[in-house]
Amino acid sequence: MNLFLAFDLTNFVGRFHPILVHLPIGFLLLGILMEWYQRRHKTEKLSTLIAFAWLLGASGGALAAFCGWWLGETGLYFEKDLFLHRWAGILIVIISFVGWRLKKNHVLHSRLMHRIVNFLILGLLIFEGHLGGNLTHGASYLFEYAPESVRNLMLEEKSEMVDLSKSDSILVYNDLVKPILEQKCFACHDNAVQRGGLNMASIDSMLVGGDDGPAFLAGNVAESELFRRISLPQKNIKFMPPVGDPLTYDEIKILEWWIDEGAASDKKLADLEISESVKPTLLRRYGLDTNPKPYYEMVHIAPLDSIVIINMEKNGFMVKTLGATNVLLDVKFSGDHLTFEQLKSLEPAADHITWLSLAETNITDEGMVTVAKFKNLTRLQLEKTNISDFGVAKLTSLQHLEALNLYATKVTNNCLPEIKRMKSLKRVYLWQTDVKPNDAQTLEDNNEELEVIIGQG
Ligand code: HEC
Repeated sequence: MNLFLAFDLTNFVGRFHPILVHLPIGFLLLGILMEWYQRRHKTEKLSTLIAFAWLLGASGGALAAFCGWWLGETGLYFEKDLFLHRWAGILIVIISFVGWRLKKNHVLHSRLMHRIVNFLILGLLIFEGHLGGNLTHGASYLFEYAPESVRNLMLEEKSEMVDLSKSDSILVYNDLVKPILEQKCFACHDNAVQRGGLNMASIDSMLVGGDDGPAFLAGNVAESELFRRISLPQKNIKFMPPVGDPLTYDEIKILEWWIDEGAASDKKLADLEISESVKPTLLRRYGLDTNPKPYYEMVHIAPLDSIVIINMEKNGFMVKTLGATNVLLDVKFSGDHLTFEQLKSLEPAADHITWLSLAETNITDEGMVTVAKFKNLTRLQLEKTNISDFGVAKLTSLQHLEALNLYATKVTNNCLPEIKRMKSLKRVYLWQTDVKPNDAQTLEDNNEELEVIIGQG
């Protein structure tokens, strides 16, 4: 078979099949119709013509079958559909020659005999035509635009989802990549059939590759034949899969990402770097939200006694819970003059305060000793206060602080080493301070997770 693949003659001869195939169908139908007409009108006049139509049908059919056989050899069709279509075609040719002999000497044979041959040919032609349609257009073609109820009946929706409820245990190759290949490529590239010499049943066999070498190069999609084949324009003769549904955008993205990340067989989702370009795909196709959750969504503690909250409010704080299911607190001082006692009233809520704003108050560096006790603090606003580098230094024990606003405070370049020590910090606001923009930029450049917002001037 591979010998045939080498010649374009295979394609050349093969492509006459669809053209040639309709003519013999017409002749055979005409033969059957003429016979029916003749019987109704009780005449014998058409008999020679009828036999002639069957002869044309049979020989035309033989020619179409010959070309069809070659077309099948191109390997561009699903093996399992092809098998039936091929042999049903041969059967049609044989029966139409038998039919021709029968019609030629029609008086010698019973009416029943004629009827059987006619029905057999009619039935086979319909069956064969349907198989041929499926081969070229895919099984869903015929009913794609049917009314919904008919469509549901005829086309079983394939559910392609793996169980992704435990996202930590998802194996990238097994659970995400392999199902795609299985559905779209295995029909022509697995242990049973190896078109182009390529077996895609395992990573190893893909690396052994096909006639043109390995199917992919781990870590390099640009050099990967597999990726090239699925991302060609669909009209290209090299496009894969040659028949059936092409890969969707999301499927291509998954394969691209997996190859780029080294095409490992046993890596879990959490082991691989989730590139920005594959994130939307993981979310859309599998419902996997791979963005890290903010810390405050992962803290689970009992709600705070409402007496404590009322006391905080009496002391001038506005207090809100983060949400209906999240009992952590968003606390903001509403005035501008904050006393030490007022600040102390927050201490019973030390584990619950996750957002705190003391902006535009007279809070001092000393007050930061109290603030540093709020171990679940993730966002702290100190803008437009007199906080200096000393105050910032007191905050380094906060393990989960993600955002710190020091805009228009007294901090200088000396606070940068302290900020660097806060490993959880993602954003720090430093504009209108004495921090030098260049040094702030250096800090940001050296800390991938950290964004320093300093504005211009
Ligand atoms: C209907 C059959 C069929 C399906 C389905 C199919 N292929 Fe192919 N594939 C072929 C044939 C035939 C060849 C050999 C001719 C050629 O190279 O174009 C081939 C060749 C290839 C080659 C080149 C192998 C080599 O070394 O020459 C790659 C890579 C490939 N296919 C990838 C895929 C991928 C990926 C899919 C699934 C998305 C797929 N194929 C689905 C029929 C198929």
